[in-house]
Amino acid sequence: MNADVAASTERPHGPRTASFSKGLSGSLRAAADKSISHRSLIFSAMAEGTSLITGLLESDDVLATARAVAQLGARVEKLGDGRWQVTGAPWRSPAAPLDLGNSGTGVRLLMGAAARFDLEAVFTGDESLSSRPMARVLDPLADMGVRSEAAEGGRLPTTVFGRSDIKPIDYTPPVASAQVKSAILLAGLGSDGETIVREPRLTRAHTETMGPLYGADFTVERDGPSAVIMVRGGRTLKAHDLEVPGDPSSAAFLVAAALLTPGSDVTITGVMTNPARFGLYETLQDMGADITLTPAGTRAGEALVDIHVRSSTLKGVEVPAERAPSMIDEYPILSVLAANAEGRTTMLGLEELRAKESDRLSASAKLLEVNGVKLELGDDYLIVEGCGAGGVPGGGMVQTFHDHRLAMSGLVMGLASRGPVTVDDVAMIATSYPTFFDDVAALGGVIS
Ligand code: S3P
Repeated sequence: MNADVAASTERPHGPRTASFSKGLSGSLRAAADKSISHRSLIFSAMAEGTSLITGLLESDDVLATARAVAQLGARVEKLGDGRWQVTGAPWRSPAAPLDLGNSGTGVRLLMGAAARFDLEAVFTGDESLSSRPMARVLDPLADMGVRSEAAEGGRLPTTVFGRSDIKPIDYTPPVASAQVKSAILLAGLGSDGETIVREPRLTRAHTETMGPLYGADFTVERDGPSAVIMVRGGRTLKAHDLEVPGDPSSAAFLVAAALLTPGSDVTITGVMTNPARFGLYETLQDMGADITLTPAGTRAGEALVDIHVRSSTLKGVEVPAERAPSMIDEYPILSVLAANAEGRTTMLGLEELRAKESDRLSASAKLLEVNGVKLELGDDYLIVEGCGAGGVPGGGMVQTFHDHRLAMSGLVMGLASRGPVTVDDVAMIATSYPTFFDDVAALGGVIS
């Protein structure tokens, strides 16, 4: 791995305060997609030959995955801004633990991918990641014959003892999680049979969409909201060049900022519209947002749009539980949007939010409460009483609990509230959206 990969860059940290802003304007290219960036590194690192990845998201989470695949045996080189070359190899035991930092996607996908090689790998992470459940991946891997040793409660540090004679399984995950599905499918690449994952509710399908680009044998059968995904093992993966599309989850923060601040007119270009990722935008249309989507070609097999967004008066809506997997990362920012809407917004089916980088359900509720917004919080739902456009009192100090999406949501709230909003620490924003501050400033938002 070349020096650039290992170098840690200066990044904002500590508290920041966002103040009322208006007239956000301009056109920006969406930040690169995190999910596709992780997967492009992982597939390339297992493939025969050299893959060129362009527009890779150079965030802390993705760089942790880049370092991990290099430790596992791939040759990883940064050629220029977002341009990375990865030469795959059969994976071997890393000499040191694989530290995935804050990244649930990185750690869970790599556990699955590593499980099909004869190796022993220790996985570690930061305080937030070390509190998140890993049994959801380790249990199905055990069914595939893969032994692991985890810290108490199925947490990190976890050692995975991979094996090249992994067994195929037919598995229905108890939680709707693309990370779990992907870990099993990546492990299944090594079995000599057919591994099947049955999803009652469709989650992001990037692993099964990208696998065939690298020569993997995936079949997907869809039936309404459910899907059966099969992978036939034993194929040699081949290098593939890929350009990463824009991230709808990162774009959501700028879209929300433009909707909520008066007199704004913003365009975000090159945003992936994958239906398993686009639930927030559907919800925004229900809320009456002034958003126009213009087709903008494809990248990595994904359809793209340019999103043109103008300040809007939003109305409260009910967001059904079935939509949750397609907008699972967007509830903190939806909570902020709901706080600025006229009337009540009810969000259902949110139990998985409690297992994210933080307990995102209670953290989102606290974010609103400290800024004067009324709500009702249940085990798996949140009801927000909207204050109307420009009506959120603000003035609060938001606890982010090491969660990037909480930090960005708190700051967007401050751009549109009557009083400024402070978030306690912005360091984690670099895990998914390292150019967030530059982008907000380019549009005219005030964060200090
Ligand atoms: C991701 C899956 C989601 C999401 C995460 C990225 C992925 O997690 O929250 O940010 O790339 O597979 P779950 O699938 O566990 O809900």
